[in-house]
Order: sequence, then structure tokens, then C-alpha cells
Amino acid sequence: MPIFAKRLIIWHKLHGRHHLPWQKNRDPYAIWLAEIMLQQTQVNTVIPYYSRFMREFPTISSLAQAPLDAVLSLWSGLGYYSRARNLHATAHRVVHHNQGQFPYSREAIQHLPGIGRSTAAAIAVFAFGQREAILDGNVKRIFTRYFGISGYPGDSKTQHLLWEKADESLPVHYRNGNIETYTQALMDLGATVCTRHAPLCKICPLQPECIALKENRINQLPATRPR
Ligand code: ADE
Repeated sequence: MPIFAKRLIIWHKLHGRHHLPWQKNRDPYAIWLAEIMLQQTQVNTVIPYYSRFMREFPTISSLAQAPLDAVLSLWSGLGYYSRARNLHATAHRVVHHNQGQFPYSREAIQHLPGIGRSTAAAIAVFAFGQREAILDGNVKRIFTRYFGISGYPGDSKTQHLLWEKADESLPVHYRNGNIETYTQALMDLGATVCTRHAPLCKICPLQPECIALKENRINQLPATRPR
């Protein structure tokens, strides 16, 4: 397994987050809801909304049956309301056109409205234990720094390179739970250690190989949009 994955998995056992409400189970519905809420909103803001939502709509069929107004009112304050509309429409589709069965493969999940590759991968990992790479904003920052990638992450060539690195860095599949722990570790490290401003390199488990740190380029990476 790449040393990158090994270091993250070890780090997570001691320093990662283990008690987030959506980590309680592998219900694809519960995981899906969490990942949609977390797309544009921070963990601490999401938690109370997530708990209320799960209390009101504990299953995908209860969500599908609810009037859109009730869903939007529970979403009120979270912003990006197209997420709530997509969620409601998707629940309807899964219940009525897929026998209530949430899609399984990352590709099939990615076909749902409002779900890109990284969100689909996160759901496939946490709900089904599949070996898929994620690449959200926080994770891009970790990879650009660790591998010393100078291109702007918004351009397609750099994006492609980052997905390649994300794929190559996955843990091998020999032990249960590794992919979930690894994925959560990436998210947690990006949120708490490898932050945009003033990252905590001194306590980072990836410092031995981090190229940006070695070359003193932490503050230059990831590159900002070229102008
Ligand atoms: N951001 C996106 N998905 C997340 C998750 N499952 N846990 C913590 N932060 C996240």
C-alpha cells in the first residue's frame, strides 16, 4: 500500500473524527443525505440540520412521500436549495422506478441529479465499502501539496493529473474498513491540518514526503486561478 495511505490510516485512528452522526451506519440513504448536505456546507453547520432531517424523514420512502414544501422548510438556512429539490426528486425516482434500491456503483450514483464524481465516490465508499477515490476541494489541496503539483486545480489537465494521483494513492484492498478510514482521514486532514491558511505542517502525518513542505511552497499551493 502507498505510504501515503498507510500514514493517513494510522493518523486517523488517533486524530480523526469518529463520532459524526452519519458515521453511525451504512444506510445508503443516510450517507447520501449527509454527503449532499456536506457539499457546500461545513460539518458543524450540517450536524443539527442532518439530525432534524433524519428524524423527520428516516427513510428514503418517507422523503419521497413528503411534499416538497416540507423538505424545503427543513432545508431552510442551509442554502443552495437546488440540493433539496434534487434530493426530493431523486428519492421519488429511487422509490418509484428502482424498487427503493439506492444505486450501487459509483457510476450509477453519479448519474443522479446534483452528484458529481467525488460525491458519488464518497457515497460508494461509506455506504458500500467500494474502492473509489474522492477529490473535493480539501482533498485537492492535500494532493497538490503532497505531490508538489503547480498547475491550477481548476484547469482540466491539472484536474486529470489530480484524479490520477487520487486513484494511485488508494489503499490496497486487503483489510476490511481501510477504504472508509482512508477516505474519512483525507477529509479530516484537509479540514483540520492541511488547511488553506496556516496549515499545521508540524503535526501533519504526511510531512516526511510532502513536496510542498520540502520545497517551502506550502503557501503557493494549490495555485490560484491564472489571470
Ligand atoms: N465532507 C464531505 N463529506 C464528509 C464526511 N463524510 N465527513 C466529514 N466531512 C465531509
